[in-house]
Order: sequence, then structure tokens, then C-alpha cells
Amino acid sequence: MIFNSARSAAAGDLLITLLGEPTDWAQSGLDAEIIDTAKKAFAQKRDLLLLPGKSNRLLVWFGGKDNSDSDREALRRLGADAAELINRHCFSSAFVLNHSGSSSKAWDFLEGVALANYQFRKYRNSDEGLNTLNTLRIPASTLNAAELKELEIVVSATYKARDLVNEPLSTLTAVQMSKEFQTMGREAGFSVSVLNKKKIQELGMGGILAVNLGSPDPPTFTIMEWKGGRPRNKKPLVLVGKGVVYDTGGLSLKHTAKGMDFMKCDMAGGAAVAAAMYAIAMAKVPVHVIALVPASDNRPGGNAYVPGDVIKMMSGKTVEVLNTDAEGRMLLADALHYAKRYKPELVIDLATLTGASAMAIGPLGMVAMGTADEQVMKNLKQSGQAVHERLAEYPFWPEYGEEIKSEIADIKNVGNGFGGSITAGKFLEHFTEYPWIHLDIAGPAFLHTPNAYRTRFGSGIGTRLLYHFVKNYAQ
Ligand code: BES
Ligand code: MN
Ligand code: ZN
Repeated sequence: MIFNSARSAAAGDLLITLLGEPTDWAQSGLDAEIIDTAKKAFAQKRDLLLLPGKSNRLLVWFGGKDNSDSDREALRRLGADAAELINRHCFSSAFVLNHSGSSSKAWDFLEGVALANYQFRKYRNSDEGLNTLNTLRIPASTLNAAELKELEIVVSATYKARDLVNEPLSTLTAVQMSKEFQTMGREAGFSVSVLNKKKIQELGMGGILAVNLGSPDPPTFTIMEWKGGRPRNKKPLVLVGKGVVYDTGGLSLKHTAKGMDFMKCDMAGGAAVAAAMYAIAMAKVPVHVIALVPASDNRPGGNAYVPGDVIKMMSGKTVEVLNTDAEGRMLLADALHYAKRYKPELVIDLATLTGASAMAIGPLGMVAMGTADEQVMKNLKQSGQAVHERLAEYPFWPEYGEEIKSEIADIKNVGNGFGGSITAGKFLEHFTEYPWIHLDIAGPAFLHTPNAYRTRFGSGIGTRLLYHFVKNYAQ
């Protein structure tokens, strides 16, 4: 989406007028006949009124909505409906005039329009079904320069996360993903360094190497860092994202249809933390933040790790592998251990970690647990409500840890039955020594059916959550 600041509409623009309560109809520049039609439509709870042809207008009604989280979400969804309407009528550009009396409502609505307009078209030769909308022209009276810039940043970061999730393994191996992260770093101004297989071996990252054994492609470990202006935090905030570029399950092979066929999404945590870094750096948030993405595919080939193997992790702990499909925790464990060297104030990891969390809460939110202060969890939840990337906090009682005790090694990589998401979290906890929150995004990372402005397939979930949280954290 192209966002242009513009004083006036260009030829062919759809004229979008945002209206709210109280409405100064006289100020709206609409003629009497249109005002009459609009009043009738809005009274019937129709919030979008398209008047194509000579007037070329879309009237949008924000009446009755305030700044509550649920109304903000309703505004985004209204934006998604508007995007659908605009594309159905084949407009390619729009000029957006705000007479709603609220720039934050205009912002939410436009976020919905722009996020809904996303499509992954890279591999389609025909234009069939291609969205026509590509440009939003926005005067300063609708959004000031800073608001417009931030909207553009949040939207483009989310697009980047989605693009990465939607990219298949054939074009997004671990090495290629680390290159994409480097490109993002160059564009946004954060530093990126990539550890290759040799370096990963030297560091003794046994979990990453074990998962990678069955793959013909090497693993990577990407370290991204942003230290903006005068950061408010003395010790860094560390973000960790699962970067499994494809999860076949390994020898504990998944079923292909409906089990494996969308497992290119298993790096959605990595995509989200990289996209959040992009947004944070683009917006020059005064914060010190580091992102780590351990990456590999998980395959059953050649020398693949087997159920029964005992793996020595970077931390020195030993893990009995009883299911090679519980690979995410193996990679993440080494990354969480690596994070200790930064003496972090807080670590947040995002991972498409367990089918159990997707089964439990579906695509409606993410599962959260951890050891950080209650207040930190509360703040993260509040960010989740604000951007509608919601958190459902699970219990994290010590007894769940009993489930991953092993006879053979220090711990095993699967639990005994119940609480699959929590026992995965308990596994990770073994590799942390700092305040930490784990977010299991297996449910919302990849959407099988169209979902308003979250679109279909890769949702980019986590990007807007982390950006919102980190921005507040820096204040
Ligand atoms: N990547 C999967 C989890 C997943 C499932 C993500 C559905 C997105 C949608 C993960 O690596 C996995 O396979 N987890 C296993 C763990 C089990 C073997 C303990 C699972 O949930 O079945
Ligand atoms: Mn798996
Ligand atoms: Zn996985």
C-alpha cells in the first residue's frame, strides 16, 4: 500500500469521507441530497455508503464508537469491509477526508483498510482477483505527518511478516530467511549478524544441530540489534522467534494433508520478531532491543535425529528426544540460553509451538505463560487488547514440570499427556534465568479461512503486539 500525504484528491480518486458524532454536516462539503441519503443509511446502522458515478464517494460512519479496545477493533473491521467494497468497484486510489472529529479513529479505520488490502501474489501470473486499490492519499487534516508515518510503518512491517510466512520452503530456507532479515535490517537501520552452521557447531548449539541433522540445508542463527537514541532500558529487551522454515515432524512424521501442508508457517515467530524490529527501528523507538531467530527445517532425511536420542544442549543440559516433531523447543532452548549473555531485563519468545494451543483457543488469540512479573504480563496483555492480538494466560504451576522428567536424561522433549502447551513452556523454562514470557502463536499464525483485515494465510500476528508493547516499554 502506498500512503501519500496530499492536500487534494487526484483524478480518479475515490473520495472517502469519514463522519462521526457529533457531525457538522455543513463542514462536510457534501451536498444536501447526499447528506439526506447518508443520514437515512446511518440511521439504519449502515456504516458504509458507496456512491459511485459522478460523486465518486464513500461515506463512512464512525457514530456510536468510542476509543474502547472493542470499538477500535470494530473500526479496523469496518476498514476491512471498506477495502472489500473499494476493490469490488475497482478503484485504485482514494483520498481520505476526516470529518469524524477523531484522528485516532481515522488511524484505526485506515489500518484496517491497508491491512485488509494485503495479498500474496508473488507466484501468480494472472491478475484474476488482484486487488485494484494501491494508493491512499491522506491530507494533514486527516492524519498529521507523524501519524501517517507510523501507520505506514506498522502496515509495512505486518506485510513483511506475512510475506515471510507465506513464502514456501522452496524459496525460504534458513539461509535465505537470514538474508531477508539482513535486507530488513539495512532498510530499517538495525544491525544483523548471522551465525552459520560452523559457528553454531563451535557454540555447541546441540538443540539446533539435532533438528538440522535430517536436512540437506544448513541452519542459521540470526542476531538483530537496535539501540535507539537514548534507550530508557539499561539492560536489553530480548525477543526470540521460532524459525522452523518447514516442519515435516522429522521421523515422527506429520500427516501431509492438514498436518504438514501449511508447515511453511512454522517460522511465524521469527517473522514476527524480525518485523517488530523493523517497525521499532523505522519508528526510531528509544529502546535497546535484541532479536534472536534460530532457524532450520525439520526433516526426516539422512542422519535425522531419532526418538530415543539424547541431545546435549548448549546450556549443558541433556534432553531425551521422544518425538522429533517437538523440535521447536529444541531450537528455542539454545536461543533462550544464548540470551543469558545479554543479562536481559525481559525476554519474550514467540513460537508456533504446539498444536494443543491451536486446538484450545483457535485463531482468536495466542497462549501466554512465563516467569516475568505480573505487571509485565499485564502490560503485554493490554497491548494485546489494544491491537487485538490477544493473550490467553495459562497456568504455569511447578507441577507441570514433572511431566517432562526423564529417566535417561535431565529432561525429555514431550510431556505425558495433558497440558501440551504448558509442558512445552516448562521445557523452555529450563533454559531461562531471567524474567520471561512465552507466547504460543500456533493458532493465529496461519489462517485457513479469510479473516477481515487479518486476511488469509500468514497473519503477521505478533508484529503489532510487540511494536505496541515495546513502544510503551520505552516510555
Ligand atoms: N509446529 C508444530 C506446532 C503447530 C501445530 C504449529 C499446528 C501450527 C499449527 C510443532 O513443532 C509440533 O509439531 N508440535 C507437536 C508437539 C508434540 C509432538 C509434543 C504438536 O503440537 O503436535
Ligand atoms: Mn513439530
Ligand atoms: Zn514446529
